[in-house]
Amino acid sequence: MGFDKAEFVTSAPSLDVCPKPYYPEICFAGRSNVGKSSLINALVNHKGLARTSNRPGKTQQMNYYQVDDKMYLVDLPGFGYAKVSKKERERWGRDIRDYLLERATLRLVIHLVDIRHKPTDLDEEFFYWLGTNRLPFTVVLTKGDKLSHNKRHQSKARLKRILDEMNIEVPIIISSAEDNTGIGDIKELIYE
Ligand code: GTP
Ligand code: MG
Repeated sequence: MGFDKAEFVTSAPSLDVCPKPYYPEICFAGRSNVGKSSLINALVNHKGLARTSNRPGKTQQMNYYQVDDKMYLVDLPGFGYAKVSKKERERWGRDIRDYLLERATLRLVIHLVDIRHKPTDLDEEFFYWLGTNRLPFTVVLTKGDKLSHNKRHQSKARLKRILDEMNIEVPIIISSAEDNTGIGDIKELIYE
């Protein structure tokens, strides 16, 4: 099902230098190290395309990947990375906010949360902010291979309760870039 051809396009630090808004685009957001770049690689079945690392803070700019000559996947820098200065974090917040609010071709925000951890305050603020700004989004629980079947479903139920409390109804998908759990579902959602 598609996603056959993928290539790196450019790295953009802010909205004004993003590629021309030509293709519809999907962006990947979430804390540092949650697995954004790995998920992009799993979707396009190309392990080395987006650079990944076990040290958080690997992706520092918005990295654009063009898929099948019809869409962009955008790998966002992770948030909540403790080692950057407060000033840099603020700039990150502003740049990403501008991008999310003003990018006319943005179709879907995929927000990633590590399935082993409770969503942090930053995650919850982000859900709320996406909801209030009426941005279409979905939540992907990453690294599903690290938990048992039961624990995975407990984690999904916990997330659903948090979203329900905010009156947010969005798809929640469990994924793994290791064993490809959920990859087909995420592709379908993107196509929709
Ligand atoms: P930043 O660029 O720093 O924001 O991180 P990121 O969200 O892009 O994370 P990245 O894809 O670089 O992955 C971080 C670490 O988690 C790497 O060591 C990956 O190998 C590992 N990882 C990512 N996805 C999975 C997964 O589904 N299962 C397992 N077991 N490990 C994963
Ligand atoms: Mg990354």
